[in-house]
Amino acid sequence: MDRVREKLAAARRVAVITGAGVSAESGVPTFRGKEGLWRNFNPMELATPEAFERDAKLVWEWYDWRRELLAKCQPNPAHEALAQLEEVTPHYLLITQNVDGLHALAGSRAVIELHGSIWRLRCTREPFREWEDRTTPLDPLPPQCECGALARPAVVWFGEYLDPANFERIEAFFSAGAPDVVLVAGTSALFPYIQNWAFHATQTGGMLVEVNPEPTPVSDIAHVTLMGKAGEILPKLIREG
Ligand code: OAD
Repeated sequence: MDRVREKLAAARRVAVITGAGVSAESGVPTFRGKEGLWRNFNPMELATPEAFERDAKLVWEWYDWRRELLAKCQPNPAHEALAQLEEVTPHYLLITQNVDGLHALAGSRAVIELHGSIWRLRCTREPFREWEDRTTPLDPLPPQCECGALARPAVVWFGEYLDPANFERIEAFFSAGAPDVVLVAGTSALFPYIQNWAFHATQTGGMLVEVNPEPTPVSDIAHVTLMGKAGEILPKLIREG
């Protein structure tokens, strides 16, 4: 813990990768935990283009339920610590897989929402037409674009491509200079691109730090794994701004 705190305090370039575990202490269910179930559906069965094609109303009911739940959630000390880390780090990028918007609410600014945002909707007819809507519950359900077409959540579903612009921003951050620290917190790190960015740190001389109560594929390559809750560990790693 002390080693990481010192390293972060001296770091000039830091990349942070977060997942659902960082929002768990705000009351947001993780994807793969058992509290992620809704009406006995596994999120992995609902967050797909095929599920939406089959039954858009059902998928929207699930999103509407999550939006109502998230509207009541506040950032926790993990989000706050990361916002503080950004304040004291000259070159900082936070890559989150979370769609809840809690990092921004805590004050983080350099955030890439890799999997989109649950607060944004997109037209199914004209995919470049996207807008923010924080209404809960949504009415009508399923919601529509102003052109009359069905709207969908502006999130990345299983089997869909990530926004290439996000990839470019991340690659640009890594190629502008080797990160002193890559911090991976609260993610099961099952996606290859998450593992690759984490691996990048170990290849360029940076310190790879993981914060998670459970082991993940990143644990095998991390220099330091701090096993525990993000809301308890992250605040201890960040010096006051
Ligand atoms: P998961 O639900 O797969 O994993 C949550 C991780 O958080 C697990 O490794 C837990 O051990 C850990 N965890 C739980 N409580 C924690 C706490 N208090 N502090 C720190 N860690 C904690 O969620 P993600 O890794 O975010 O993608 O999942 C990645 C992606 O898969 C999601 O963005 C979503 C999902 O299916 C899409 O929808 C495309």
